[in-house]
Amino acid sequence: MIPSKPFAAPLHDSTLGALTRGYAWLPDRMRSADGAVYRTRLLGRPAVAVRGPEAVLFFYDEEHVVRKQALPGPVLDTLFGRGAVHTLDGDAHRARKALFMTLLKDDESVAHLCTLVRRRWRDAMEEASRAGEPVVLFDTAAEVLALAVRDWAGIPPPDAEAAGLAHDCVAMVDGFAAPGLRHLRARRARTRQENAMGGLVGAVRESPTDDDSPTALEAVAQHRNLDGELLDTHTAAVELLNIVRPTIAIAWFVTFAAHALHRWPHHRKLLRADPTGKHALACAHEVRRFYPFAPFVGGLAARDLTWRGERIEKGTMLLLDLYGQNHDPDLWAHPYRFEPHRFSRAPRLPDGLVPQGGGDPARGHRCPGEDITVAVLSTLVTELAELEYSVPPQDLTIPLSRVPTLPRSGFVLSLA
Ligand code: HEM
Repeated sequence: MIPSKPFAAPLHDSTLGALTRGYAWLPDRMRSADGAVYRTRLLGRPAVAVRGPEAVLFFYDEEHVVRKQALPGPVLDTLFGRGAVHTLDGDAHRARKALFMTLLKDDESVAHLCTLVRRRWRDAMEEASRAGEPVVLFDTAAEVLALAVRDWAGIPPPDAEAAGLAHDCVAMVDGFAAPGLRHLRARRARTRQENAMGGLVGAVRESPTDDDSPTALEAVAQHRNLDGELLDTHTAAVELLNIVRPTIAIAWFVTFAAHALHRWPHHRKLLRADPTGKHALACAHEVRRFYPFAPFVGGLAARDLTWRGERIEKGTMLLLDLYGQNHDPDLWAHPYRFEPHRFSRAPRLPDGLVPQGGGDPARGHRCPGEDITVAVLSTLVTELAELEYSVPPQDLTIPLSRVPTLPRSGFVLSLA
């Protein structure tokens, strides 16, 4: 008798599940998968999800995973921009990434941004206190960050434009994975801000300076591709926005930090009694681990691959489950407890904590803005802990089905 071929059920497409189930989708699927990977289809393409520190190294090896054509058009037209560093591979990626590494990994420059953030935050709190109105923390934090990052990046006044910039950058992040009106708003916001940033780049190119420490605006305007040519104006605008937009997006983590201080108020006391800033740093890391922001990252298999005995065909979409890894009980004791001390007690496992990707940021696609995120968040966690405010009744639930998510109220506080 001829043995019958085992029936392989066609994998169903999970795009709708991913969109509707949000942060729970991939970790749930990974838990119920019986092998080292979870297999599905996404946007009509076969997809394989992995996680864990070794998977991070596998995923960020550019011999394994490439980014060209990996990101869907709707994500590029809202979140990242066409031609962004996120879409490059190999030498072209490394040359563009060097621009970000020089600007964002300099300790002095990161400290300067924190000084600007603190100044703008204190002005905003004083003004809100004078006005006697409750503050929607998420909106205020986004405006504070917009004002500070404009100063830092060398974007000229008027300050009055910062509110529009904050609003547009929030819209770009809010609408990238959403259907309907949210998505439309994100597209319009991107078009508006690409035009505005393009205008700034054009103006800087008309009157260049040979400053030894150029601002971010000047550095992007003067950056050259591998062929020695300046970036075209649109690409330069996209990359300037790839500095400004995610800095404003730290408002998500600031709002989560306020949520944590409200739920677990003993951390406020610990922060007030900590002049070294060590607890603020631990809180910043734990906020990034605990709260949901980037759910996963993806790329395409560069060739036929094998991961832990599982065959992955060339062109398959590979997903790295960031949110799932940050809550993996094999890596984190009591992963669903907010416990900043885990970051001050034990040395950090390399590539364990991945809210902003993993691997070597200079060679791979790991976020180059982690130093800024951690430093700015530590600064504002400390400011929040020192601020006298009350939290009026409001809806503080954080819906996991929404990407990106927030406490529903945006976290309203009343200043004393
Ligand atoms: C708000 C908190 C932030 C989160 C949650 C975040 C998260 C991420 C993630 C998940 C990636 C993708 C990694 C990958 O593709 O493998 C990324 C890439 C990137 N991020 Fe961030 N990021 C944040 C803040 C920042 C900041 C403050 C900046 C700049 C000032 C920044 C600039 C970038 C850039 C330029 C890339 C592309 C890197 C590349 O493709 O090589 N991010 N970020």
